[in-house]
Amino acid sequence: MSENSDKAWSGRFGGTTEELMERFNASIGFDRRLYRVDIEGSRVQARALHESGHLSESELAEALGGLDRVEKEIEADSLPLTDDLEDIHMAVEKRLIELVGPVGGKIHSGRSRNDQVALDERLYLREAIAGTDDRLQTLQSAVVDLAEAHLDTILPGYTHVQQAQPIRLAHWAMALFWMLDRDRGRFRDCWSRANASPLGSGALGGSAYPVDREKMASELGLERVTENSIDAVSDRDALLEYLSAAAITMMHLSRFCEDLILWSSSEFGFVELDDAYATGSSMMPQKKNPDSLELVRGKTGRVYGNLAALLTVMKGVPLTYSKDMQEDKEPLFDTIDTLWMCLAVFTGAWSTMRIRPDRMRSGLDGAILATDLADYLSRKGVPFRDCHRIVGRLVRESLDEGKRLDELGLDSLRAVSAVFEADVSSVLSPENSTNDRNLPGGTGRDAIVRQIEAARQITSASIV
Ligand code: ARG
Repeated sequence: MSENSDKAWSGRFGGTTEELMERFNASIGFDRRLYRVDIEGSRVQARALHESGHLSESELAEALGGLDRVEKEIEADSLPLTDDLEDIHMAVEKRLIELVGPVGGKIHSGRSRNDQVALDERLYLREAIAGTDDRLQTLQSAVVDLAEAHLDTILPGYTHVQQAQPIRLAHWAMALFWMLDRDRGRFRDCWSRANASPLGSGALGGSAYPVDREKMASELGLERVTENSIDAVSDRDALLEYLSAAAITMMHLSRFCEDLILWSSSEFGFVELDDAYATGSSMMPQKKNPDSLELVRGKTGRVYGNLAALLTVMKGVPLTYSKDMQEDKEPLFDTIDTLWMCLAVFTGAWSTMRIRPDRMRSGLDGAILATDLADYLSRKGVPFRDCHRIVGRLVRESLDEGKRLDELGLDSLRAVSAVFEADVSSVLSPENSTNDRNLPGGTGRDAIVRQIEAARQITSASIV
């Protein structure tokens, strides 16, 4: 417990803070991550106060020098950041005053921790979004690499986890590319709305000092200023958007994990994770478990939880700021850490797994070309409903006889429909089946090559 006289707000207090309350109230244990952006904001605030006549040239120089020193001390881990300091904003200010004296206490003029924390979070989010985009892009490249290597690997495609139609592995992989592309778009959108400076909003009504808000924004590399100080200090939308976008990205990864976990079972055997991304059992010597992918799938729940937590916190907060909103940081930081770790692990597991085209090929069910047979009849003028029924009968027959559809022979086919002719053999090939689907977005080889070309075109320009 510290004496209240140490606290910036001690003036109106006679008694001391309970130690439990101090611990409960403190965010410094986690918001120390904001120290760099917090100091960046303070530099800009100090310059604006100087330009508006509130700080002299020499006071500005002292304040800036002091902020540099505080930053170095935190970087070097030499400044103890204890709970009695409350939060990173107070900790920086207190240390600044210790280092440079009264001028350190001047730079908060017209600023509140309310606009300060709102700014810090936006600046922090900008870095988080840039880092997220880099990682998504790295995974996208790994996805395209796998697609290029497996243009001619054919496997069963599933709906309801039942074999549906043959697909090319490249096509399955590229599905992830486009999901990630939309994810990148969501993070980009999040930034475009967040790209505004709340500085100058004060506690809620705006600063009473004539600071140039536009200039502060541009010095911070922000595109514009927020329009309404009440909104600016109340708003946590950008964090919520990041958490939502992260939840959707995790859902995408989780579904691919699910496929790969299933595919790495001995029943499927389509892929085998590299030893680097698998673990063993403490009891059963033969086991090789896909823990990497299971954990990504599992951590998806935690990222959803973070979104639900912050949405729930925010729904009850009356305008403008209440301390409830301090609860925004841990879900954000945990989401960034979790998402980045999951993207790295998933990318590693993806890039190193062994693909087994032989197992994929031999896994094709005997009836997987049923749609192709029906389409054959349909192209010869039979109404599709009838085609469906005819081929359904052939499927039943093949199952009864324990044969594949392509083993039935022309006579058996013609016994059910005289429309079948010798050329039917050409549709009874998985390669041809996929190549019948060469329209844009289809699983035909040429269509996939075009998809990959389009994917390679997608620029790698930084988004923030
Ligand atoms: N640590 C606080 C938070 O993260 C900073 C803002 C405090 N503002 C206030 N008016 N008490 O929300």
